[in-house]
Amino acid sequence: MNTFTLKNNTLHAENVALNNIASEFGTPCYVYSKSALTQAFGRFSAGFKGSNHLVCFAVKSNPSLAILNLFAKLGAGFDIVSGGELARVLAAGGDPKKIVFSGVGKTEAEMQAALNAGIFCFNVESVSELLRLNDVANVMGKVAPVSLRVNPNVDAKTHPYISTGLKNNKFGVAYEDALDIYLQAAAMPNIAVHGVDCHIGSQITELSPFLDAFDRVLALVDALEQNGIHIQHIDAGGGIGICYNDETPPAFDAYATAMLAKLGESNIKLVFEPGRALVGNAGILLTKVEYLKQTESKNFAIVDAAMNDLMRPALYDAYHAIQAVQPRNADAVNYEIVGPVCESGDFLGHDRMLALQEGDLLAIMSAGAYGMSMASNYNTRPRAAEVMVDGDQTHLIREREKIADLFALEKILPAV
Ligand code: LLP
Repeated sequence: MNTFTLKNNTLHAENVALNNIASEFGTPCYVYSKSALTQAFGRFSAGFKGSNHLVCFAVKSNPSLAILNLFAKLGAGFDIVSGGELARVLAAGGDPKKIVFSGVGKTEAEMQAALNAGIFCFNVESVSELLRLNDVANVMGKVAPVSLRVNPNVDAKTHPYISTGLKNNKFGVAYEDALDIYLQAAAMPNIAVHGVDCHIGSQITELSPFLDAFDRVLALVDALEQNGIHIQHIDAGGGIGICYNDETPPAFDAYATAMLAKLGESNIKLVFEPGRALVGNAGILLTKVEYLKQTESKNFAIVDAAMNDLMRPALYDAYHAIQAVQPRNADAVNYEIVGPVCESGDFLGHDRMLALQEGDLLAIMSAGAYGMSMASNYNTRPRAAEVMVDGDQTHLIREREKIADLFALEKILPAV
Protein backbone atom coordinates (compact mmCIF):
# COMPACT_ATOMS: atom_id res chain seq x y z
CA MET A 1 0.00 0.00 0.00
CA ASN A 2 1.19 3.51 -0.75
CA THR A 3 0.82 5.36 2.48
CA PHE A 4 1.13 8.94 1.34
CA THR A 5 -0.49 9.32 -2.07
CA LEU A 6 -1.98 12.02 -4.24
CA LYS A 7 -5.75 11.69 -4.67
CA ASN A 8 -7.69 14.46 -6.38
CA ASN A 9 -4.45 16.41 -6.54
CA THR A 10 -4.17 16.39 -2.76
CA LEU A 11 -1.62 14.44 -0.74
CA HIS A 12 -3.32 12.04 1.66
CA ALA A 13 -2.17 9.98 4.62
CA GLU A 14 -4.17 6.80 4.05
CA ASN A 15 -7.67 8.21 3.40
CA VAL A 16 -7.23 11.57 5.09
CA ALA A 17 -6.26 14.69 3.15
CA LEU A 18 -3.26 16.37 4.74
CA ASN A 19 -4.78 19.85 4.37
CA ASN A 20 -7.61 18.72 6.65
CA ILE A 21 -5.07 17.61 9.23
CA ALA A 22 -3.35 21.00 8.99
CA SER A 23 -6.68 22.83 9.49
CA GLU A 24 -7.62 20.71 12.47
CA PHE A 25 -4.30 20.41 14.29
CA GLY A 26 -2.16 23.19 12.86
CA THR A 27 1.41 23.05 11.57
CA PRO A 28 4.12 21.96 11.99
CA CYS A 29 2.68 18.53 12.66
CA TYR A 30 4.03 15.01 12.39
CA VAL A 31 1.61 12.63 10.69
CA TYR A 32 1.99 8.84 10.90
CA SER A 33 0.13 6.06 9.13
CA LYS A 34 -1.00 3.21 11.36
CA SER A 35 -1.23 0.89 8.40
CA ALA A 36 2.32 1.66 7.26
CA LEU A 37 3.63 0.98 10.78
CA THR A 38 1.69 -2.26 11.05
CA GLN A 39 2.78 -3.42 7.64
CA ALA A 40 6.44 -2.62 8.22
CA PHE A 41 6.44 -4.62 11.44
CA GLY A 42 4.59 -7.46 9.74
CA ARG A 43 6.99 -7.56 6.80
CA PHE A 44 10.07 -7.49 9.01
CA SER A 45 8.74 -10.30 11.21
CA ALA A 46 7.46 -12.38 8.29
CA GLY A 47 11.01 -13.10 7.12
CA PHE A 48 11.76 -14.81 10.43
CA LYS A 49 8.47 -16.66 10.76
CA GLY A 50 8.99 -20.16 12.13
CA SER A 51 12.38 -19.27 13.55
CA ASN A 52 13.10 -18.45 17.17
CA HIS A 53 13.25 -14.65 17.10
CA LEU A 54 12.31 -11.39 18.80
CA VAL A 55 11.96 -8.02 17.09
CA CYS A 56 12.84 -5.23 19.55
CA PHE A 57 11.80 -1.86 18.12
CA ALA A 58 14.55 0.73 18.71
CA VAL A 59 12.64 3.23 20.83
CA LYS A 60 15.03 6.09 20.11
CA SER A 61 13.84 6.25 16.51
CA ASN A 62 10.32 7.19 17.58
CA PRO A 63 9.32 6.98 21.24
CA SER A 64 5.67 8.05 20.81
CA LEU A 65 3.51 6.14 23.30
CA ALA A 66 0.93 5.44 20.60
CA ILE A 67 3.56 3.91 18.33
CA LEU A 68 5.12 1.87 21.15
CA ASN A 69 1.66 0.67 22.14
CA LEU A 70 0.87 -0.34 18.56
CA PHE A 71 4.09 -2.32 18.25
CA ALA A 72 3.58 -3.90 21.70
CA LYS A 73 0.16 -5.12 20.57
CA LEU A 74 1.76 -6.58 17.45
CA GLY A 75 4.10 -8.59 19.70
CA ALA A 76 7.21 -6.45 19.51
CA GLY A 77 9.87 -6.14 22.14
CA PHE A 78 11.87 -2.95 22.60
CA ASP A 79 15.48 -1.81 22.45
CA ILE A 80 15.98 0.95 25.02
CA VAL A 81 18.95 3.15 25.85
CA SER A 82 17.83 5.02 28.98
CA GLY A 83 15.68 4.88 32.07
CA GLY A 84 13.38 7.31 30.31
CA GLU A 85 12.84 4.91 27.42
CA LEU A 86 12.24 2.08 29.90
CA ALA A 87 9.52 4.14 31.61
CA ARG A 88 7.96 4.97 28.24
CA VAL A 89 7.85 1.35 27.13
CA LEU A 90 6.23 0.31 30.39
CA ALA A 91 3.74 3.20 30.20
CA ALA A 92 2.86 2.13 26.66
CA GLY A 93 2.10 -1.44 27.76
CA GLY A 94 5.34 -3.03 26.53
CA ASP A 95 6.38 -6.38 28.00
CA PRO A 96 9.49 -5.95 30.19
CA LYS A 97 10.53 -9.51 29.38
CA LYS A 98 11.01 -8.40 25.78
CA ILE A 99 13.26 -5.41 26.52
CA VAL A 100 16.95 -5.20 25.64
CA PHE A 101 18.90 -2.35 27.21
CA SER A 102 21.71 -0.94 25.05
CA GLY A 103 24.01 2.04 25.51
CA VAL A 104 27.52 2.84 26.73
CA GLY A 105 26.61 4.88 29.80
CA LYS A 106 24.01 3.09 31.91
CA THR A 107 23.76 4.65 35.38
CA GLU A 108 23.21 2.72 38.60
CA ALA A 109 19.66 4.03 38.81
CA GLU A 110 18.95 2.86 35.27
CA MET A 111 20.35 -0.59 36.04
CA GLN A 112 18.20 -0.80 39.16
CA ALA A 113 15.07 0.19 37.28
CA ALA A 114 15.73 -2.36 34.56
CA LEU A 115 16.48 -5.12 37.07
CA ASN A 116 13.28 -4.28 38.93
CA ALA A 117 11.30 -4.42 35.72
CA GLY A 118 12.83 -7.80 34.87
CA ILE A 119 14.09 -7.03 31.38
CA PHE A 120 15.16 -9.67 28.86
CA CYS A 121 18.80 -8.63 28.56
CA PHE A 122 21.40 -5.95 29.23
CA ASN A 123 23.65 -5.27 26.26
CA VAL A 124 26.85 -4.47 28.14
CA GLU A 125 29.45 -2.32 26.41
CA SER A 126 32.52 -2.37 28.71
CA VAL A 127 34.23 -4.23 31.53
CA SER A 128 33.53 -1.33 33.90
CA GLU A 129 29.83 -1.57 33.10
CA LEU A 130 29.90 -5.32 33.70
CA LEU A 131 31.51 -4.83 37.13
CA ARG A 132 28.98 -2.15 38.04
CA LEU A 133 26.03 -4.25 36.91
CA ASN A 134 27.31 -7.20 38.94
CA ASP A 135 27.52 -4.95 42.02
CA VAL A 136 24.09 -3.39 41.51
CA ALA A 137 22.48 -6.79 40.97
CA ASN A 138 24.29 -8.17 44.03
CA VAL A 139 22.90 -5.44 46.31
CA MET A 140 19.42 -6.14 44.94
CA GLY A 141 19.80 -9.91 45.33
CA LYS A 142 19.29 -10.39 41.60
CA VAL A 143 21.13 -11.89 38.66
CA ALA A 144 21.42 -9.72 35.56
CA PRO A 145 20.97 -11.34 32.13
CA VAL A 146 23.74 -10.09 29.88
CA SER A 147 25.02 -9.96 26.32
CA LEU A 148 28.30 -8.28 25.53
CA ARG A 149 28.10 -5.87 22.67
CA VAL A 150 31.04 -6.82 20.49
CA ASN A 151 32.54 -4.46 18.02
CA PRO A 152 33.23 -6.54 14.92
CA ASN A 153 35.31 -3.82 13.21
CA VAL A 154 33.11 -3.86 10.13
CA ASP A 155 32.55 -0.80 7.98
CA ALA A 156 28.80 -0.16 7.74
CA LYS A 157 29.42 2.27 4.87
CA THR A 158 27.09 4.87 6.27
CA HIS A 159 27.40 8.44 7.57
CA PRO A 160 30.32 8.61 10.05
CA TYR A 161 28.09 10.01 12.81
CA ILE A 162 25.88 6.91 12.72
CA SER A 163 28.51 4.25 12.07
CA THR A 164 29.15 2.33 15.27
CA GLY A 165 30.94 -0.92 14.43
CA LEU A 166 34.43 0.36 13.71
CA LYS A 167 37.42 0.00 16.00
CA ASN A 168 37.61 3.71 16.72
CA ASN A 169 33.94 4.02 17.78
CA LYS A 170 33.03 4.28 21.45
CA PHE A 171 30.67 1.30 21.22
CA GLY A 172 31.03 -2.26 22.43
CA VAL A 173 34.10 -4.24 23.40
CA ALA A 174 36.84 -5.07 20.90
CA TYR A 175 36.21 -8.34 19.11
CA GLU A 176 39.66 -9.58 20.07
CA ASP A 177 38.96 -9.01 23.78
CA ALA A 178 35.47 -10.50 23.80
CA LEU A 179 36.33 -14.09 24.77
CA ASP A 180 38.39 -12.94 27.71
CA ILE A 181 35.65 -10.60 28.95
CA TYR A 182 33.03 -13.32 28.56
CA LEU A 183 35.14 -15.57 30.78
CA GLN A 184 35.28 -12.79 33.37
CA ALA A 185 31.51 -12.30 33.10
CA ALA A 186 30.83 -16.01 33.48
CA ALA A 187 32.71 -15.96 36.78
CA MET A 188 30.67 -13.08 38.23
CA PRO A 189 28.02 -14.34 40.66
CA ASN A 190 25.34 -11.78 39.78
CA ILE A 191 25.78 -11.91 36.01
CA ALA A 192 24.20 -14.56 33.78
CA VAL A 193 25.67 -14.68 30.29
CA HIS A 194 22.78 -15.07 27.85
CA GLY A 195 23.80 -13.64 24.51
CA VAL A 196 26.10 -11.87 22.10
CA ASP A 197 25.13 -8.44 20.78
CA CYS A 198 26.34 -6.47 17.80
CA HIS A 199 25.11 -3.26 16.17
CA ILE A 200 27.25 -1.74 13.45
CA GLY A 201 25.42 1.42 12.48
CA SER A 202 22.31 2.96 11.02
CA GLN A 203 20.91 3.69 7.55
CA ILE A 204 22.91 0.80 6.10
CA THR A 205 21.95 0.22 2.50
CA GLU A 206 23.95 -2.90 1.69
CA LEU A 207 23.57 -6.43 2.94
CA SER A 208 27.27 -7.30 3.13
CA PRO A 209 28.21 -5.37 6.31
CA PHE A 210 25.41 -7.17 8.21
CA LEU A 211 26.57 -10.55 6.95
CA ASP A 212 30.24 -9.86 7.66
CA ALA A 213 29.41 -8.80 11.21
CA PHE A 214 27.14 -11.83 11.68
CA ASP A 215 29.94 -14.17 10.52
CA ARG A 216 32.22 -12.75 13.17
CA VAL A 217 29.53 -13.06 15.84
CA LEU A 218 28.83 -16.69 14.89
CA ALA A 219 32.56 -17.47 15.12
CA LEU A 220 32.60 -15.93 18.59
CA VAL A 221 29.57 -17.98 19.65
CA ASP A 222 31.46 -21.14 18.62
CA ALA A 223 34.58 -20.06 20.49
CA LEU A 224 32.49 -19.36 23.59
CA GLU A 225 30.85 -22.79 23.37
CA GLN A 226 34.29 -24.38 23.22
CA ASN A 227 35.12 -22.48 26.39
CA GLY A 228 32.04 -23.74 28.18
CA ILE A 229 29.89 -20.64 27.68
CA HIS A 230 26.58 -21.45 26.07
CA ILE A 231 24.94 -18.59 24.18
CA GLN A 232 21.13 -18.56 24.03
CA HIS A 233 20.60 -15.61 21.74
CA ILE A 234 22.34 -13.39 19.23
CA ASP A 235 21.24 -9.77 19.04
CA ALA A 236 22.03 -8.61 15.52
CA GLY A 237 21.18 -4.96 16.23
CA GLY A 238 19.30 -2.67 13.90
CA GLY A 239 20.50 -0.54 11.05
CA ILE A 240 18.60 -1.52 7.90
CA GLY A 241 18.28 1.64 5.86
CA ILE A 242 15.28 3.10 4.09
CA CYS A 243 14.81 4.89 0.80
CA TYR A 244 14.89 8.67 1.32
CA ASN A 245 15.78 9.50 -2.26
CA ASP A 246 17.28 6.83 -4.50
CA GLU A 247 18.86 4.44 -2.02
CA THR A 248 18.18 0.74 -2.47
CA PRO A 249 18.42 -0.80 1.00
CA PRO A 250 18.17 -4.56 1.40
CA ALA A 251 14.61 -5.88 1.32
CA PHE A 252 13.50 -7.34 4.66
CA ASP A 253 13.01 -10.81 3.19
CA ALA A 254 16.46 -10.81 1.56
CA TYR A 255 17.99 -9.78 4.88
CA ALA A 256 16.09 -12.50 6.75
CA THR A 257 16.91 -15.20 4.22
CA ALA A 258 20.61 -14.36 4.26
CA MET A 259 20.83 -14.20 8.06
CA LEU A 260 18.89 -17.46 8.54
CA ALA A 261 21.06 -19.19 5.94
CA LYS A 262 24.15 -18.27 7.97
CA LEU A 263 22.53 -19.55 11.15
CA GLY A 264 21.87 -22.93 9.53
CA GLU A 265 20.33 -25.60 11.76
CA SER A 266 21.07 -23.79 15.00
CA ASN A 267 18.04 -22.98 17.12
CA ILE A 268 19.73 -20.02 18.78
CA LYS A 269 17.28 -17.16 19.24
CA LEU A 270 17.78 -14.14 17.00
CA VAL A 271 17.03 -10.68 18.35
CA PHE A 272 16.81 -7.61 16.13
CA GLU A 273 16.66 -3.92 16.98
CA PRO A 274 15.23 -2.16 13.93
CA GLY A 275 14.15 1.44 14.32
CA ARG A 276 14.21 3.47 11.12
CA ALA A 277 13.17 0.54 8.91
CA LEU A 278 9.88 0.22 10.83
CA VAL A 279 8.91 3.89 11.18
CA GLY A 280 10.95 6.04 8.80
CA ASN A 281 8.66 5.94 5.83
CA ALA A 282 5.50 5.74 7.94
CA GLY A 283 5.64 9.41 8.89
CA ILE A 284 5.87 12.87 7.40
CA LEU A 285 6.30 16.36 8.77
CA LEU A 286 3.57 18.68 7.62
CA THR A 287 4.53 22.34 7.36
CA LYS A 288 3.20 25.59 5.94
CA VAL A 289 5.01 28.06 3.70
CA GLU A 290 5.05 31.33 5.64
CA TYR A 291 7.02 33.50 3.21
CA LEU A 292 8.58 33.31 -0.21
CA LYS A 293 11.70 35.42 -0.40
CA GLN A 294 13.78 36.11 -3.44
CA THR A 295 17.38 37.19 -3.07
CA GLU A 296 19.91 37.92 -5.76
CA SER A 297 21.06 34.31 -5.96
CA LYS A 298 18.36 32.16 -4.35
CA ASN A 299 14.68 31.66 -3.82
CA PHE A 300 13.81 30.83 -0.26
CA ALA A 301 10.62 29.20 0.92
CA ILE A 302 10.48 29.96 4.63
CA VAL A 303 8.30 27.33 6.30
CA ASP A 304 6.99 27.00 9.84
CA ALA A 305 8.96 23.82 10.59
CA ALA A 306 12.64 24.15 11.41
CA MET A 307 15.80 22.35 12.45
CA ASN A 308 14.40 22.05 15.96
CA ASP A 309 11.52 19.97 14.55
CA LEU A 310 13.58 17.87 12.12
CA MET A 311 17.26 18.00 12.84
CA ARG A 312 18.50 15.46 10.29
CA PRO A 313 19.20 17.86 7.39
CA ALA A 314 21.14 20.27 9.63
CA LEU A 315 23.02 17.57 11.52
CA TYR A 316 23.84 15.03 8.81
CA ASP A 317 23.11 16.99 5.67
CA ALA A 318 20.41 14.35 5.25
CA TYR A 319 18.07 14.40 2.28
CA HIS A 320 14.30 14.33 2.80
CA ALA A 321 12.00 14.51 -0.20
CA ILE A 322 9.60 17.47 -0.05
CA GLN A 323 6.20 17.40 -1.72
CA ALA A 324 3.49 19.99 -2.11
CA VAL A 325 0.28 18.87 -0.44
CA GLN A 326 -1.73 20.42 -3.29
CA PRO A 327 0.67 20.68 -6.24
CA ARG A 328 0.11 23.76 -8.40
CA ASN A 329 -0.15 23.63 -12.12
CA ALA A 330 2.49 26.32 -12.62
CA ASP A 331 6.15 26.62 -13.49
CA ALA A 332 8.39 25.15 -10.81
CA VAL A 333 11.13 27.28 -9.30
CA ASN A 334 14.32 26.16 -7.55
CA TYR A 335 13.81 26.73 -3.81
CA GLU A 336 15.81 26.49 -0.65
CA ILE A 337 13.33 25.18 1.91
CA VAL A 338 14.32 26.78 5.22
CA GLY A 339 12.91 27.27 8.70
CA PRO A 340 12.62 30.37 10.89
CA VAL A 341 15.52 29.47 13.23
CA CYS A 342 18.38 31.96 13.30
CA GLU A 343 21.07 29.77 11.75
CA SER A 344 22.05 29.20 8.15
CA GLY A 345 22.15 25.50 8.99
CA ASP A 346 18.40 25.66 9.46
CA PHE A 347 17.31 24.11 6.21
CA LEU A 348 15.04 21.22 5.35
CA GLY A 349 16.00 20.91 1.70
CA HIS A 350 18.24 22.45 -0.95
CA ASP A 351 17.44 22.94 -4.63
CA ARG A 352 13.85 21.75 -4.65
CA MET A 353 11.88 22.40 -7.82
CA LEU A 354 8.41 23.41 -6.68
CA ALA A 355 5.60 25.77 -7.68
CA LEU A 356 4.71 27.55 -4.45
CA GLN A 357 2.67 30.36 -3.02
CA GLU A 358 2.65 31.65 0.53
CA GLY A 359 0.27 29.61 2.67
CA ASP A 360 0.88 26.38 0.74
CA LEU A 361 1.40 23.18 2.68
CA LEU A 362 4.44 20.95 2.24
CA ALA A 363 5.10 17.41 3.37
CA ILE A 364 8.66 16.61 4.44
CA MET A 365 8.77 12.93 3.62
CA SER A 366 10.39 9.97 5.44
CA ALA A 367 10.26 11.83 8.74
CA GLY A 368 8.92 9.01 10.93
CA ALA A 369 12.34 8.03 12.32
CA TYR A 370 14.66 10.37 14.24
CA GLY A 371 12.32 13.26 13.53
CA MET A 372 10.21 14.03 16.59
CA SER A 373 12.58 11.95 18.72
CA MET A 374 15.40 14.42 18.08
CA ALA A 375 13.26 17.56 18.21
CA SER A 376 14.25 20.32 20.61
CA ASN A 377 12.91 23.60 21.89
CA TYR A 378 15.68 25.67 20.30
CA ASN A 379 14.54 29.27 19.76
CA THR A 380 11.82 28.54 22.37
CA ARG A 381 9.77 26.76 19.78
CA PRO A 382 7.13 24.39 21.14
CA ARG A 383 7.50 20.89 19.75
CA ALA A 384 5.05 19.91 17.05
CA ALA A 385 1.79 18.02 17.42
CA GLU A 386 1.70 14.36 16.36
CA VAL A 387 -1.21 12.71 14.62
CA MET A 388 -1.84 9.07 13.71
CA VAL A 389 -4.07 8.29 10.76
CA ASP A 390 -5.96 5.01 10.68
CA GLY A 391 -7.97 4.62 7.49
CA ASP A 392 -10.25 7.65 7.50
CA GLN A 393 -9.78 8.29 11.22
CA THR A 394 -7.38 10.85 12.65
CA HIS A 395 -6.05 10.65 16.21
CA LEU A 396 -4.08 13.35 17.97
CA ILE A 397 -1.38 11.28 19.72
CA ARG A 398 0.58 14.19 21.13
CA GLU A 399 -0.62 17.72 21.66
CA ARG A 400 1.45 20.61 20.45
CA GLU A 401 3.52 21.93 23.35
CA LYS A 402 2.34 25.16 24.93
CA ILE A 403 4.78 28.04 25.13
CA ALA A 404 4.17 28.58 28.86
CA ASP A 405 5.20 24.96 29.51
CA LEU A 406 8.58 25.60 27.95
CA PHE A 407 9.66 27.79 30.85
CA ALA A 408 7.40 26.38 33.56
CA LEU A 409 10.33 24.73 35.37
CA GLU A 410 12.44 27.88 35.41
CA LYS A 411 12.86 30.52 38.11
CA ILE A 412 14.20 34.03 38.15
CA LEU A 413 16.49 35.05 41.00
CA PRO A 414 14.84 36.55 44.08
CA ALA A 415 14.95 40.35 44.40
CA VAL A 416 17.92 41.60 46.47
N1 LLP B 1 20.32 -0.58 18.22
C1 LLP B 1 21.27 0.26 18.67
C2 LLP B 1 22.18 -0.20 19.71
C3 LLP B 1 21.37 1.54 18.12
O1 LLP B 1 22.31 2.37 18.57
C4 LLP B 1 20.47 1.96 17.11
C5 LLP B 1 20.54 3.30 16.54
C6 LLP B 1 19.48 1.04 16.69
C7 LLP B 1 19.44 -0.22 17.25
C8 LLP B 1 18.47 1.38 15.64
O2 LLP B 1 19.06 1.66 14.40
P1 LLP B 1 18.13 1.82 13.11
O3 LLP B 1 17.49 0.48 12.84
O4 LLP B 1 17.12 2.86 13.40
O5 LLP B 1 19.08 2.23 12.05
N2 LLP B 1 19.84 9.97 14.50
C9 LLP B 1 20.39 9.23 13.39
C10 LLP B 1 20.37 7.74 13.64
C11 LLP B 1 21.08 7.33 14.92
C12 LLP B 1 21.02 5.87 15.18
C13 LLP B 1 21.51 5.54 16.55
N3 LLP B 1 21.41 4.15 16.90
C14 LLP B 1 19.65 9.60 12.11
O6 LLP B 1 18.75 10.43 12.16
O7 LLP B 1 19.98 9.11 11.04
